Amino acid sequence: MSTFLAAERVRGFGTSIFTEMSALAVEHRAVNLGQGFPDFAGPAWIKQAATEAIAADLNQYAPATGLPRLRAAIAATWARNSWRDIDPSSEVTVTSGATEALFGAIMAFVNPSDEVICFEPFYDAYLPDIIMAGGVPRVIRLYPPMPADNERRAATAQWRFDPDELAAAFTPRTRIFLLNTPHNPTGKVFTRTELEQIAALCQQHNVIAVTDEVYDQLVYDGAVHIPLATLPGMWERTLTINSTGKTFSLTGWKIGYVVAAPHLSQALRQAHQWITFATATPLQQAAAVALELAPENGYYAELRAAYLERRDRLDQVLHRAGFTTLPVEGSYFIMADISNTGFASDADFCRWLTRDVGVAAIPPSSFYANQRDVPLLARFCFAKKLETIQAAAERLAGIDRNRLG
Ligand SMILES: Cc1ncc(COP(=O)(O)O)c(C=O)c1O
Repeated sequence: MSTFLAAERVRGFGTSIFTEMSALAVEHRAVNLGQGFPDFAGPAWIKQAATEAIAADLNQYAPATGLPRLRAAIAATWARNSWRDIDPSSEVTVTSGATEALFGAIMAFVNPSDEVICFEPFYDAYLPDIIMAGGVPRVIRLYPPMPADNERRAATAQWRFDPDELAAAFTPRTRIFLLNTPHNPTGKVFTRTELEQIAALCQQHNVIAVTDEVYDQLVYDGAVHIPLATLPGMWERTLTINSTGKTFSLTGWKIGYVVAAPHLSQALRQAHQWITFATATPLQQAAAVALELAPENGYYAELRAAYLERRDRLDQVLHRAGFTTLPVEGSYFIMADISNTGFASDADFCRWLTRDVGVAAIPPSSFYANQRDVPLLARFCFAKKLETIQAAAERLAGIDRNRLG
């Protein structure tokens, strides 16, 4: 029998760390705080809207750019946040999750050997997306708060980048700056000053910004999410990506979207029409209902309060188990310092934690392109029921404290 090598563009990809850790979690019946999705149900009123849409026979292809009602609801969301008045017909495109939006944006603008800048640690799809488009990733580092900064919520306790490294990453070949805020896995929310530095460089080098803002509703302790597109001079060059999956705890629906000026949306749509063309019609209808009703029925405030409680509970649990945690201003992840555990790598630590303690976490080194001086951390997800966090607490309480130096 012939064997067929995979195409070069995918040959180096390997298996994602999530696959390995999830399999290990199942094998050892571990409490899974690894993968980043809720283990609780999405709102009944949104699920009801989807059921009704199916019953009403909204079951054929949607328009490629998305259901008009959903695009209007997205535009209304931008207007309500005072971000911008946008035209739903030419400036909003519905995609199959943020995942497709990211791929489509990169495919739409990156020519072979064009460079795309992003921060590390990064969301794991970014590098494969750039590579599949024939682009070249230029990765700059976000540095964790120094141990001395570890006092929670101290003004300086921020992941940060080196402005000189940022400036040096821009070259004549730079096509896209890819930004994620609120940031997975660090929980960082980029400040206006940081966004201004990025915006200035994008304008100076005539670079397109693609921003991944899927955690925009999950911000805590007064942190404010600022879309890069709202900064002066950025609307014309920014594609803003979002997803209803995280906001409405319905990640399996994969309803994402891109907001961008007409000239950018047009190119994105050229790619989108040949990637998926359109995405699930009844779920788009229900996503429209979700965006329409959420501001009126108190959903966003409840969501944030529930996540704040989960964050604080998990943080307490990790502290009690002997870990120092890094501050979380946004997203639904906590990074714990594991440098005192005696493990040489975060992957070995996470395997041990899953197998011997029964709690699964994700080793963030898989989110770095450059493995030199990667900080020793573990990522825990708090998009979990309080009972799940409690079950993890009971297991973590059994950790041999000697193990944690
Ligand atoms: C930063 C980031 N971007 C994008 C996605 C994917 O979003 P979607 O499920 O809408 O494709 C995720 C999911 O974990 C994420 O964390």
